[in-house]
Amino acid sequence: MKETKILLPEKDIPRRWYNVMADMPNLPAPPLHPATLEPCGPDDLKAIFPMSLIEQEVSTERWVEIPEEVLEIYRLWRPSPLYRARRLEAALNTPARIYYKYEGVSPAGSHKPNTSIPQAYYNKKAGIKRIATETGAGQWGSALALAGRMFGLESTVYMVKVSYHQKPYRRVAMETWGAEVLASPTDRTQSGRKVLEADPESPGSLGIAISEAVEDAAGRVDTNYALGSVLNHVCLHQTVIGQEARKQFEIAGDYPDIIIGCSGGGSNIAGLSFPFLLDKINGRDLRVIAVEPSSCPTLTKGEYRYDFGDLAGLTPYLMMYTLGHDFVPPGIHAGGLRYHGEAPLVSRLFHDGLIEAAAWPQSGVFEAALLFAGTEAIIPAPESAHAIKSAIEEAVTAREEGKERVILLGLSGHGNFDMQAYADYLAGKLADYEYPDEKIREALSRLPVISR
Ligand SMILES: Cc1ncc(COP(=O)(O)O)c(C=O)c1O
Repeated sequence: MKETKILLPEKDIPRRWYNVMADMPNLPAPPLHPATLEPCGPDDLKAIFPMSLIEQEVSTERWVEIPEEVLEIYRLWRPSPLYRARRLEAALNTPARIYYKYEGVSPAGSHKPNTSIPQAYYNKKAGIKRIATETGAGQWGSALALAGRMFGLESTVYMVKVSYHQKPYRRVAMETWGAEVLASPTDRTQSGRKVLEADPESPGSLGIAISEAVEDAAGRVDTNYALGSVLNHVCLHQTVIGQEARKQFEIAGDYPDIIIGCSGGGSNIAGLSFPFLLDKINGRDLRVIAVEPSSCPTLTKGEYRYDFGDLAGLTPYLMMYTLGHDFVPPGIHAGGLRYHGEAPLVSRLFHDGLIEAAAWPQSGVFEAALLFAGTEAIIPAPESAHAIKSAIEEAVTAREEGKERVILLGLSGHGNFDMQAYADYLAGKLADYEYPDEKIREALSRLPVISR
C-alpha cells in the first residue's frame, strides 16, 4: 500500500525547541538600541517582553526545554501530518517526490500557534494580564487570541486595515476567542494617528500595526507585546515543525533535497528548515528556499542592514534584509507576507548562502493554489501558495532534467478564511504588482547608515 499521510503519535511531539544559533557559522549582529546604537540588553526589552522570552532571544544553547503546560496544548493538534503529494506529482508528471508538512491542522489554521502558545504561557507566568499584538492576514491574531484564551489573558489585536476588510470572519474568529480587534491604523495610538493624518485612506501595513501594538504595550504595565514572526524566540518555537518532519522522513525512508517555505517575517521557513540545516552546515547537499511575493521582495531585492522592525521606529534596530521600514507594500492577498523585513536569523543564513530565495507575482501563485486544491484537495492559504508555486517549478525542472528529487514543502496554513482572495482570482480581478526598483531604493535611502 502506498501511504499518503505519515503520522506520528503524540509521544513524538518534540520536547525541546532547536536553537540554530548553536550551529550557524556566523551569528547575526545584535539588535541595537535606537538612541545609543549600543547592543540592546535585557533591560531595553523588558518593558514589552517577559524575561524568559528575552533569555530565549539571546540564548545560544542548542536545545530549549518545552514546558509541560505548552506541550499539553500542542497535543490538541500536534504532531501535524506529513503528506506525500502523490496526486500533485501525477498531475505534474514529475519524477520528483513531493511531501508537504501541513500546519493548517492547528485550531487557528496555520503554524502561528506554535509560538503564540508559549508566548502566552511565559507572559502569564510573569504576571502579565493583557497582550497587544498586530496581525496581517489574521492568522497571527487568531493564534494569539486563541493562546490568550487558553491562558486567561486579555488580548488586543491591531489588524492591518486591508485584511480587516478582506477577512471579516478572521476578525470574528479572534473575537470568538475573546480578543478585541481594531483596524490599523487606528486613532488609539500616536503612531496610528500620525499615519492617518498623512493618509486617511492608508491600507495599513504590518510595520504600522507593529508600531501601534508596541506603543500600546509600552504604555501599560499590565500589558506586554507579542510578535508573530521575525524574532529569534519565535523562530525557535517554530522548530517543532522541522523536528517532526525529520522523524516523518525517517519513517518514509526518504530525505529532502529541497526544502521550500513561504516567508513573511521568516519564522515559517525557519521552523521548517532549521532542524535540517545542521546537515547542510555539515556538508550535506540540501537546498532551502524562502519564497516571497514579487510585490514585497525583501530577500530578493532588499538590502542587508540595520533597520527598524516597525514603521514608527519604536523597536530596536535589527540587522536584517529590509525594504525600508516605511515601505508600504501593495494590498495583495497574501497579507502575512506583506512585511518589509526578514528574521535576523534567516537574513544571516541567506547572507551566508545557506538559504536561497525566490519571488513570484500573485497570479501565478493562485494558479498554483488552484492546481494544489484540485489535486491534494486542501485550499491553501495565499501565503502558503507561494511555496507551492516554487515547489511546482522545482518539480517541473526535475521532470525536464529527468532527475528524481525530493521536495519538502511547508504548507503553513489553510485558506478557508481567504475566500475573497479566491473570489477575486476566479473573477480575473487579481493584479500583479512588481515593486519598482526605484521605489525600493528610495525607501532604503531614508535608512540611517550604521556601521559597526
Ligand atoms: C499561512 C501563513 N503562512 C506564512 C506566513 C508567513 O509567516 P512568517 O512570518 O513566519 O514567515 C503567514 C503570516 O501571517 C501565514 O499566515
